[in-house]
Amino acid sequence: MRKRIVAGNWKMNKTHREGVEMLAQFFKMLDFEISLLEDTGKQLPEIIVFPPFLLVADAAMLAQGWDVKVGAQNCSSEKEGAFTGEISANMLKAAKAGYVILGHSERRNYFHETNQIVAKKIDRAFESRLQVICCVGESLQQREVSKEFPTITHQLEECLFHLTKEQMKNVVIAYEPVWAIGTGKNATPEQAQEMHNYIRSVISGKFDKETSENISILYGGSCNPQNAKLIFSQPDVDGGLIGGASLNPKDFMEVIKAIL
Ligand code: 13P
Repeated sequence: MRKRIVAGNWKMNKTHREGVEMLAQFFKMLDFEISLLEDTGKQLPEIIVFPPFLLVADAAMLAQGWDVKVGAQNCSSEKEGAFTGEISANMLKAAKAGYVILGHSERRNYFHETNQIVAKKIDRAFESRLQVICCVGESLQQREVSKEFPTITHQLEECLFHLTKEQMKNVVIAYEPVWAIGTGKNATPEQAQEMHNYIRSVISGKFDKETSENISILYGGSCNPQNAKLIFSQPDVDGGLIGGASLNPKDFMEVIKAIL
């Protein structure tokens, strides 16, 4: 059985104090939900939060008591040295991060990250024993000219195909159609299923069936308490990477409950 995951990408939101307060609220709700789940046979998915860098170490400490993982939203493609303003994978590992998001479309579009840079970052993350959420997704323009499948194939090839099957065990893929991010316009459950199934077939073609069956593929893009249940009910959707709705503990909890 592959892992079901619901992850919250806070992006550039919340000061240290606001973030700590929000986590405290969330953990209180989580405690309550865990008590309700007892004896139901249902299991929570893996929960990961991705706060801004400044909060990673403290969030990881706070999360210890709960079964919640903490990750970072980016890392440097370089190991260490004179790279002013960068944060290395090794620093994140030392801060007790377990995951790093790489290849997010906001990094690709606003900070000019290419597939080659993403591939390099993935290598740094693995050297530091971090797990990776690798994001792929097509733009509206690409979808309008029916280029969504070749676009995703190209991203998968250039970001992931240099990895070994063993390394692929530490990769989670997030399909985030750019036109659905922060727009309130989500992919339909059918569109998500179609692309997730396609991604699995590409992974199977390059690696093998086992790798493709075991890899978790998350959907991201305006996923919220209203639409999460239908999206998560699709057979190839293993959870979500949640932006806006993860900034409200109640909404994030509702999205998590939608996968139970
Ligand atoms: P929204 O949920 O705000 O659309 O963001 C999705 C996303 O980019 C998660 O990484």
